[in-house]
Amino acid sequence: MAFEWLAPILTPTALRSVQADGRPVITLFLVIFGLSLFGLVCWYIHFETSKAYPKKVDPNAKKATEAHLMTSQATALTLQDKVAIVTGASRGIGAGLALELARRGAKVTLVYTSQKSSELAEKVAADIKALNNGSAATIVQADLATVDAPEKIVQATLKAFGGKIDILVNNAGVLFGRPITETTAEDYANIFDVNVRAPLLMTRAVVPHLRAPGRIINLSSVGARIGPPQMALYAGSKAAIEGMTRSLAQELGGAGHTVNAVAPGATESEMLDDVPKDMVEAQLKITAVERRVGKVDDVARIVAWLASEDAKWVSGQTISASGGFLML
Ligand SMILES: NC(=O)c1ccc[n+]([C@@H]2O[C@H](COP(=O)([O-])OP(=O)(O)OC[C@H]3O[C@@H](n4cnc5c(N)ncnc54)[C@H](OP(=O)(O)O)[C@@H]3O)[C@@H](O)[C@H]2O)c1
Repeated sequence: MAFEWLAPILTPTALRSVQADGRPVITLFLVIFGLSLFGLVCWYIHFETSKAYPKKVDPNAKKATEAHLMTSQATALTLQDKVAIVTGASRGIGAGLALELARRGAKVTLVYTSQKSSELAEKVAADIKALNNGSAATIVQADLATVDAPEKIVQATLKAFGGKIDILVNNAGVLFGRPITETTAEDYANIFDVNVRAPLLMTRAVVPHLRAPGRIINLSSVGARIGPPQMALYAGSKAAIEGMTRSLAQELGGAGHTVNAVAPGATESEMLDDVPKDMVEAQLKITAVERRVGKVDDVARIVAWLASEDAKWVSGQTISASGGFLML
């Protein structure tokens, strides 16, 4: 038998063996060919029937799944029944993160100090009330530059929400820049009393009422690490808060609490107006994510996560909330 027609699909050795005794190879060839043809026919039949009879999806079941997903995203009440204190909650980052904690179900004490911010604080409280999700707000006006303010804030919180506190966010802060030759001891007190002493005294006042697993979150700044000129006091105060955070994490960890710091980069707020524009521009050039200024919401979500059960194994950390401008 002549098998030359098989030459294009067989190697010379295989062709020689077929020419010697072609039967086994021909049989194998026919079996493989037959199976492939069968597979092709089955696939074609499946393809045609699935076109004619598409899988029926129950539209109601689909809608219910979508609704469930949307609801769970909108009202993931991860902080339900938690009591939180947020200092500096009348505006800027503090107002945004108080609202974010409430969105997740927390009852929040809103602390502010200036008379002109009363309406702003009321607005934050009204926004929280409008959530209608079991969260609540109470407002305390207190000057954190004074040593008795923390106790007043804690007592007001206990009175409003019951005997325990779960979350303390030391957010209130002040910033001004000044050449070192013009810096006074009074300037030191003006910055350190609010940015460092107040978080320390707030923590001291809260700890006896802190329900495990408690969360303490301190607002630092990228300024603590990048050496902004003429800001020795502000940068020093934020470096201090980071050191304090690590020490307190060790001290309070045994009771099941975590203590962390969040260090925002340039973030939309009134405080940003006091940062030199060229400094902000320089930061944006190397801000990895979208080369933009941070939004309050960007920072608020990090704080809300740290306050949640999901962050239980994170303590003593400073998290850079700067879109990758400062990589720690
Ligand atoms: N925005 C940024 O780009 C940026 C960047 C890095 C870090 N941070 C840090 O983030 C935190 C919030 O900053 P922000 O930009 O939101 O500030 P902000 O817009 O200036 O708001 C400051 C808040 O702190 C309150 N506050 C100031 N002094 C107080 C005092 N003695 N007693 C009680 N409350 C006082 C203010 O209350 P009144 O309304 O009553 O004055 C206000 O609610 C600060 O710790 C800041 O250092 C901000």
